[in-house]
Amino acid sequence: MSFQPSSSAKVMVQATGVRKSFGALEVLKGIDLSLSYGQVMCLLGQSGSGKSTFLRCINHLERIDYGRIRVDGELIGYKEHNGHLQEMHEHEIARQRINIGMVFQHFNLFPHMTALENVIEGPIGVKREPREEVKERAHAILRRVGLAEKVSAYPRQLSGGQQQRVAIARALAMRPKLILFDEPTSALDPELVSDVLDVMRDLAESGMTMIVVTHEIGFAREVADRVVFMAGGEVVEEGKPADVLGNPSHPQTQAFLSKVL
Ligand SMILES: Nc1ncnc2c1ncn2[C@@H]1O[C@H](COP(=O)(O)OP(=O)(O)OP(=O)(O)O)[C@@H](O)[C@H]1O
Ligand SMILES: [Mg+2]
Repeated sequence: MSFQPSSSAKVMVQATGVRKSFGALEVLKGIDLSLSYGQVMCLLGQSGSGKSTFLRCINHLERIDYGRIRVDGELIGYKEHNGHLQEMHEHEIARQRINIGMVFQHFNLFPHMTALENVIEGPIGVKREPREEVKERAHAILRRVGLAEKVSAYPRQLSGGQQQRVAIARALAMRPKLILFDEPTSALDPELVSDVLDVMRDLAESGMTMIVVTHEIGFAREVADRVVFMAGGEVVEEGKPADVLGNPSHPQTQAFLSKVL
């Protein structure tokens, strides 16, 4: 399976001047980032620096106050008329979200559904794709994430790492253009982390465009095309993993890395 760009445009995600406040607290203070097709961006930063909020803005789970986010050239969450933004209708937002997979720290699988049923639910229920076709695809995806033996298992019968791989399979089944991962391995027992990272590495190698919030520095160093370090709602450093992780120039990046490495 490979994920080829659906258009010739090169930029998959473009954030310009993104600002977001919760009440008086400004959490994103003007984020400018862009990510090309097929690239992997790892987002690092201390707790509270705004990483999750930024990810949530990308699929409009949060409204932004200023700026623009485009995914594959399309403005997310808003329509623009003569420079004025108007929020989209819920069904249009839902249509945009179909293209953007999201994998959270807590997998949020449906407990009453098997692994297979969890994976086919979106394509059948949301995209209205034919059941047999979706099932076939779901089997292939579950095989790919190493869960061929577990298609009929319920979440409570699976380890945390297996549940997270079902969650990744569920995202993949929607055939997204982009997948956002928010600390996908943080809730896992240490011995279960590597299987999940292996699946993510495989996805990256197949050309999926990914933004990954993680504390797994080894993964970032090995898999990321770009590493972004956020602090206090701003991007304080970004670049190639070898530069940002190996030779950080910002004191906050240095302090953060000295704690996690
Ligand atoms: N819905 C909300 N209402 C009010 N404040 C919020 C809300 N969501 C996040 N915040 C605040 O915004 C700031 C950034 O939070 P965010 O979750 O984006 O940080 P983070 O970098 O993901 O942190 P962590 O590493 O702990 O997950 C924090 O101060 C948080 O308390
Ligand atoms: Mg977070």
